[in-house]
Amino acid sequence: MTSRNSRERIIAGNWKMNHGLKETEEYFNKFKPDSSFTIVIFPPYISLTKAIECTKNTEIEIGAQNAHGSVKGAFTGEISGPMLKEIGANWVLLGHSERRQHFGEKNASVKARAEGLLGQGFHLMICIGENKVEREGGKTNAVLEKQIQESLSADLLNSGNVCLAYEPVWAIGTGLNATPAQAEEAHQMIRAHLKKYFGNDQISILYGGSVTPENSKELLACQNVDGLLVGGASLDPLKFSEIVT
Ligand code: PGA
Repeated sequence: MTSRNSRERIIAGNWKMNHGLKETEEYFNKFKPDSSFTIVIFPPYISLTKAIECTKNTEIEIGAQNAHGSVKGAFTGEISGPMLKEIGANWVLLGHSERRQHFGEKNASVKARAEGLLGQGFHLMICIGENKVEREGGKTNAVLEKQIQESLSADLLNSGNVCLAYEPVWAIGTGLNATPAQAEEAHQMIRAHLKKYFGNDQISILYGGSVTPENSKELLACQNVDGLLVGGASLDPLKFSEIVT
């Protein structure tokens, strides 16, 4: 697998627990954007094969919303890298705040998943971000530093196959996106930590949290924002087309 360009411009859609087989097919009948961005869509597991089939002759890339780092074993409810490879999924989203909040994902387990999957040739999108209490308590920088220190490694960063999504938890699904200034400030903090701990800050960092067609362009205009991770607005093929074009 070839590694990605540094600071590649990527717009990703995270469908979360939405769109089964029928809706996936209907979606791709309508989603035929002409985009200069790399587009990655993360459907639920059950719809991956359908999404891959529907995007076969397009540039759209498809990935899973999570995966285990081990190739097989007694891990009920988990999906492995080889299973994803077999159906043609090349990306995995890791450490989303909903995985952290509802399913006990920790920085260390994100790192273990990432290291296992990197060795199997996946492109990884790793999510970090502070919650409302942390932001209001002035702890954003410290929280990002700890997440970066504990979930990443120099090998991961230097692989050319890892990008980050900065997703402030208070902005996810709330309609309250970070302002471009807040996003830019956090992305600068993230790059400073990447440089300090791993000597490499030249990776793609996407912003996520209540991105819409209305706010996407000003967020993308920020110098340190390389792309977007879109939840709710990616569920509608027409809205998502507006964001990526
Ligand atoms: P949202 O979700 O765009 O609906 O806020 C973003 C995400 O959780 O990735």
